[in-house]
Amino acid sequence: MGRLSGKVAIITGAAQGMGASHAKAFVAEGAKVILTDINVEAIQELASSLGDSAIAVKQDVSKQADWDEVIAKGEAAFGLVNVLVNNAGVLGKIATTLDFSEEDFNWVCAINQTGVFLGMKAVIPSMIKSGGGAIVNISSIAGLVAIYGAPNAAYVASKFAVRGMTKQIAVEYGKQNIRCNSIHPGYIRTPMMAAATDEEGGEALSMIPLGRLAECSEVSNLAIFLASDESSFITGMEHVIDGGMTAL
Ligand SMILES: NC(=O)c1ccc[n+]([C@@H]2O[C@H](COP(=O)([O-])OP(=O)(O)OC[C@H]3O[C@@H](n4cnc5c(N)ncnc54)[C@H](O)[C@@H]3O)[C@@H](O)[C@H]2O)c1
Repeated sequence: MGRLSGKVAIITGAAQGMGASHAKAFVAEGAKVILTDINVEAIQELASSLGDSAIAVKQDVSKQADWDEVIAKGEAAFGLVNVLVNNAGVLGKIATTLDFSEEDFNWVCAINQTGVFLGMKAVIPSMIKSGGGAIVNISSIAGLVAIYGAPNAAYVASKFAVRGMTKQIAVEYGKQNIRCNSIHPGYIRTPMMAAATDEEGGEALSMIPLGRLAECSEVSNLAIFLASDESSFITGMEHVIDGGMTAL
């Protein structure tokens, strides 16, 4: 028995980086997984490599209609959905506030913030019917503190919002046995991190007490724990995985 046997999980942004890592790790632990992303070719390839336990559904997380389709296809393939990992996200242009437009602000928030809200709203009815569920929202250390070198104010605003919504949903739906937690990664080796700094974390490396970046699999281990029944009394909380960076 895997640690996620009996779980039906949606993982957004599963084409690369942490989302792809979570998809592989969840299937290895016995979950049925619905991979979603705007990059449909990549999720189709990954889903077929994972066999009968995975399907791919093209999705823009900021679109309500896409969420309706993901839930319908996921339930048709695997039954009621009881895990959601809201992982899809964008950095946006790297700029300080005077050089950051309202249009750019709204685009980042539509994906990182509205996308997370729509995902929770879409999946909660399925979770209630299934007797409960676990939502894992991927925020950032930029959802806890301001950071020199954070990409822009919209990224920080959206990641703080994810942290707040996580607590609100935990309170609203705890009685229905739905748990909701946020993960706050520091510098993790993914295409997004490489775009923001460089392959080795750039100047940020000197601010990480463990002296290295994390591999995606280290975050997947935390996501598995929060999605599984091992974390059955943990809800509404921030889970920081940053090599000690915010301890400084
Ligand atoms: N890498 C890091 O160091 C780091 C640190 C803190 C938080 N995070 C967060 O972790 C999550 C995953 O980050 P990553 O580094 O793996 O990123 P990544 O850029 O490598 O992957 C993100 C995935 O999201 C998809 N995506 C983008 N817009 C989408 C949309 N509108 N709808 C659906 N899918 C969409 C992309 O196609 C991509 O496959 C993000 O929410 C990010 O903000 C990353």
